[in-house]
Amino acid sequence: MRRPRRRTLGSDIAGVVAETGRGVSRFHVGDEVYGDNLALMGGFAEFAVAPEGALAHKPAELSFAEASTIPQAGAIALQGTHSAFPGARVLINGAGGGSGAFAIQVATRMGAHVTGVDNAAKQEFMRAMGAEEVVDYRRDDFTRSREPYDLILDLVAHRSVFAYRRALAPGGRYRCAGGSVRSLLRVATIGWSIGRLTRRSMGVLVVKQGPAHFGPLALRCVSGEVRIHIERTFGLDDVPAALAHLGGGHALGKVVVVP
Ligand SMILES: NC(=O)c1ccc[n+]([C@@H]2O[C@H](COP(=O)([O-])OP(=O)(O)OC[C@H]3O[C@@H](n4cnc5c(N)ncnc54)[C@H](OP(=O)(O)O)[C@@H]3O)[C@@H](O)[C@H]2O)c1
Repeated sequence: MRRPRRRTLGSDIAGVVAETGRGVSRFHVGDEVYGDNLALMGGFAEFAVAPEGALAHKPAELSFAEASTIPQAGAIALQGTHSAFPGARVLINGAGGGSGAFAIQVATRMGAHVTGVDNAAKQEFMRAMGAEEVVDYRRDDFTRSREPYDLILDLVAHRSVFAYRRALAPGGRYRCAGGSVRSLLRVATIGWSIGRLTRRSMGVLVVKQGPAHFGPLALRCVSGEVRIHIERTFGLDDVPAALAHLGGGHALGKVVVVP
């Protein structure tokens, strides 16, 4: 009962179709594809099995490594920033990671003033992505020392819902996409209620997955409007080192495993 339910992790994938199952009509052997295999996982491998609906044809202009960075992080970035507007004060918590790097760029292109929050080593990177202001989460509590925000996209929710409420301007919106189950539950219950009572909107961003949701970001990457930042690639034998690198707080943007 204590055995892990998944044998092989890894959900964002890119590669060449080696075989198709019965009823598959959109893809053929040899097609270059990418997608988010969240349902089946198994991405840290030479071969992976994915449902047809999770995949899209890879744009020829993007490498496999580049395309693999887009599905999950791109969907989060687009959906997490869709309510930004010109002049909006937007704060992205955890902005130096994979989703954050895309989210900063998308919100900036919408004319928002973006503040990025992450550790000290990622401040320059967030500025390079377009953040006008940056905050080191280990030194500064953005919920106390700053102007309130119109939109907060939280990729690491771990503060109290009262702190997030404090950081929101009237009519503002807070959405968390990541964090512990406990903090997500708090946001969905207490946060939602506090928001309703105080003319703010607080909730969990339940990210819609699939090509329709990440494809538009890939097109923007192809056009050069949005940059893909791969900080480092690791071989398949080095997956533990790749995960340790990510967990160690050093990764800027994306880390990719290349079999
Ligand atoms: N809602 C959904 O449906 C959905 C779907 C898929 C994924 N997700 C979630 O979305 C989240 C974002 O993914 P991602 O790929 O962008 O993750 P990521 O690349 O690991 O980026 C997270 C960033 O947050 C930083 N961080 C850690 N603790 C922080 C704190 N207390 N304050 C501010 N920043 C902090 C990390 O820096 P350090 O290096 O210092 O730790 C890292 O740069 C993940 O939690 C993922 O599980 C949600």
